[in-house]
Amino acid sequence: MAVTRVPKSRPDLISEIALDVERLYNRHLEAPRLWFPHEQIDWGQGENFADRPWSPEDYPLGEGVRSSIYVNLLTEDNLPYYTNTLLAHAPKGHPILDWNHQWTMEENRHSMVMRDWVHISRCIDPTLLEEGRRVQMHKGEVPNPETMADLITYVSFQERATQIAHRNTGAKLPKDDKMGRNVLALIAGDETKHYLFYRDLALAAFAIDPSTMMIAAANMVRNFAMPGTGIPNFTRHAVRIAREGIYGLGQFLNDVLDPVLSLWDVDHLAGLSAEAERSRVELREFVAKMSATVERMAQKASGATPAIS
Ligand SMILES: [Fe+2]
Ligand SMILES: [Fe+2]
Repeated sequence: MAVTRVPKSRPDLISEIALDVERLYNRHLEAPRLWFPHEQIDWGQGENFADRPWSPEDYPLGEGVRSSIYVNLLTEDNLPYYTNTLLAHAPKGHPILDWNHQWTMEENRHSMVMRDWVHISRCIDPTLLEEGRRVQMHKGEVPNPETMADLITYVSFQERATQIAHRNTGAKLPKDDKMGRNVLALIAGDETKHYLFYRDLALAAFAIDPSTMMIAAANMVRNFAMPGTGIPNFTRHAVRIAREGIYGLGQFLNDVLDPVLSLWDVDHLAGLSAEAERSRVELREFVAKMSATVERMAQKASGATPAIS
């Protein structure tokens, strides 16, 4: 029996969103964020590691916050592979190519400025960091969404998640580390603008092809994981980061899924195919289950007895 392969997304979605890419790219350029990495660092605070090797006492910090700085910086280091993924979805002459170049140029300064601050402040072990970078970058592991619909839904969630992770890490730094707080706030500000680009591009794609986008969104939510699988001991770090209240299931649900899915108005999309309608139902069920888990975790953490229904 012949099997008909149903394409996962309309092959012309990429050409149909070209005008929206151009519009959103122009909007992005209208408010440039022209900060300079070298101006954010108090270079005079630095000391040679050869003269005074790193010690945890150099910068007392909870293990979850240290893990977060480590994971977030290594994720920024992995930029070449993200760029590679994005470029694979960018046809020659398409405005998304220009966006990808702009995005890469902006993202590149994140690891630069973060590493400068990390080394000057001695907030995490520089040897562990470099070993982690070597291992991760050698693997080159990044998510590879299959279609344009998968890609723009995934990166909408990812940019938002990254923004939250940097913002919450900054809030956990000691009040007197103004340099660190400023560096992480600047990075979070860039991530906000990237998020707005992808979120609104996805919104435009929902208007063009709601069924394809609904199926993609449901798939991406079900399978979403913060990037970082190539980082040594990633799971252990992820648990510490969640326990610290920086980024975990609760943040994913309340700070990522909730605002993004509401803006896309997935509950009220009309004209869905039968398959897309099924995806919407599955998405609702998945989010409801996640809410129940988050609530149980919160009750457990506060020591309250769960309600019996
Ligand atoms: Fe970044
Ligand atoms: Fe970003």
